[in-house]
Amino acid sequence: MSAKIIDGTSIAQEVRQEIAEEVKKLRDQNIVPGLAVILVGNNQASRRYVTMKTKACKDLGMHSVLIEFPEELTQEELLLKIEELNHDDAIHGILVQLPLPSQIDEIAVIDAISPEKDVDGFHPINIGKMMTGQDTFYPCTPYGVMVMLEKIGFNPEGKHAVIVGRSNIVGKPQGQLLLNQNATVTYCHSKTQDLEAFTKNADLLVVAVGKRNVIRREHVKPGAVVIDVGMNTDDNGKLCGDVDFEGVKEIASYITPVPKGVGPMTITMLLFNTLKSAKNIYSLKLDTLTC
Ligand code: GUN
Repeated sequence: MSAKIIDGTSIAQEVRQEIAEEVKKLRDQNIVPGLAVILVGNNQASRRYVTMKTKACKDLGMHSVLIEFPEELTQEELLLKIEELNHDDAIHGILVQLPLPSQIDEIAVIDAISPEKDVDGFHPINIGKMMTGQDTFYPCTPYGVMVMLEKIGFNPEGKHAVIVGRSNIVGKPQGQLLLNQNATVTYCHSKTQDLEAFTKNADLLVVAVGKRNVIRREHVKPGAVVIDVGMNTDDNGKLCGDVDFEGVKEIASYITPVPKGVGPMTITMLLFNTLKSAKNIYSLKLDTLTC
């Protein structure tokens, strides 16, 4: 059996089209959803991501500003900027690109963002809401994975989902979102002994470790759905994921490629959250894009 390839680019396009239509309706009422993205320092990967994020906003008719600071920025200066944005009526979403330079405490920064504008879904209030099954901003990458699963008709209820990786940005919230949809969830991580014993039992395997080929054919149950969140480079400098795509695609039922898998969904859900925030702030009913 050869797996169906989940086309993240086309799913992202479909969802972005729906978002663009909603943005147009808001603009007709003189409401323009606005996102502020803060980049501190010169991390080239971060710079690429934030450029894509601000461009995607503009492409959909949203307002977006990129605020750049030098590597030496102090925590106090960053907190002042966040406070200003918290009170800026043109801004509905605030995103501080991580990681931050070592002199800045990431937790203090996330705490300072108004939960109503936390379109990353990283604020403890929003994480708490997610954990208690309330509607809120969900972290963009795991949320994008949930939308992909819905699009392929995979219902997590009663399924065994194994998450490899326990980051605050992907692994932990991914497990929670799947649990909220009644999956049985197992977390694996760097200290897990006998990884294969767990992954081999997965109906759904989500891999977010940041290490090439951590999941190979022998780790996967025939017919499993395999979602690869990894972003690495291979020996030729080409982008690749955490899963040995060629080997695993022979036995999975569905698999995401890297690139053109989960990546395009992360930015799409950021756009979705920014639209949602603008609607929340203007107390408009969210009548489409239920997930
Ligand atoms: N760094 C890597 N992924 C993300 C993300 O989703 N949001 C932010 N703010 N920083 C990141």
